[in-house]
Amino acid sequence: MIGKPRVWISRPTFSDIVARLEPHFEVATEAEETVFPPVVLAGKLASCDAAIVGLNQRIGAMEVASAPRLRIVANLAVGYDNLDIPALTAAGIAASNTPDVLSESVADFTWALLLGSARHIGAAERWLREGRWRANGFKDWLGLDTRGRTLGILGMGRIGQAIARRATGFGMQVAYQNRSRLPAAVEAGCAARYVDKSTLLAESDFLVLAVPLTAESHHAIGAAELAAMKPTAVLVNIARGGVVDDAALAAALAGRRLAAAALDVFEGEPAVHPALLALDNVILSPHIASATWDTRRAMTALAVDNVLALFGHGPDAGHPPSLLNPGVLAVRPAP
Ligand code: GLV
Repeated sequence: MIGKPRVWISRPTFSDIVARLEPHFEVATEAEETVFPPVVLAGKLASCDAAIVGLNQRIGAMEVASAPRLRIVANLAVGYDNLDIPALTAAGIAASNTPDVLSESVADFTWALLLGSARHIGAAERWLREGRWRANGFKDWLGLDTRGRTLGILGMGRIGQAIARRATGFGMQVAYQNRSRLPAAVEAGCAARYVDKSTLLAESDFLVLAVPLTAESHHAIGAAELAAMKPTAVLVNIARGGVVDDAALAAALAGRRLAAAALDVFEGEPAVHPALLALDNVILSPHIASATWDTRRAMTALAVDNVLALFGHGPDAGHPPSLLNPGVLAVRPAP
């Protein structure tokens, strides 16, 4: 290779962290947040050896077809439904994500949404700002307590577990459903009880979704599941748009067949289903559950570590810490 290998970063991040790449790579960072159309993205990838990308860039066979030098796509997210991993593997390209470093921040934000929904924080604040506060009725803004209630969690990975651990402080019981049951010690650490999905739907007073988006989890919560929930229940989606059928959710909320919801993620985001925008019993946030200073910096550092390691640099040289398709190195060894 003539000159340094080239890293393309699809979004502005933290320049002091990215500077760790500079001794080894030529680094090009996009100046603005842009969702690149497939052909433009393919053009960006064509000339680089590594890419650090946000989950708003969808990368599959077409996008890497003209990128013979590309060795790694490091996703700045724990979820990686934006990456076609089999296609990247077939092209000999490693892929990595940012697990663990964001779990606690996402769990905090989940609780912010849960409590915000339970206590009408969004709607009450809008009402106040609209200048409508004249007197407070004793029975206005009555919300839901958490103590003694059941927190259901669909998807009990690292984030689900971090959410569950916080429930003890609120005096809640935790029920969960996951593809596989957790080891007894982990269940005990989260004080969580494994149940089947229909029990989860029927028993949850607050149902939090923390599953990755896959073919199986697509519309895991649709009209039938919403109908199986308590009409007093609150649904919180911090997982991915597409896990919930947003149109069915909007209909359930409008018909008060579900008390409230809080959504950080949406089908087709940044578009939000117009029926949700018209409702007062749903809190909507723009996919920011991991957005704290510490966590976004840690995510950037982990993506940088993965790139450095793949190219034989840094403490993890040769062993990128969060590779999603490690088998790719057997067929196309690291440079
Ligand atoms: C955010 O949604 C992530 O997957 O990190």
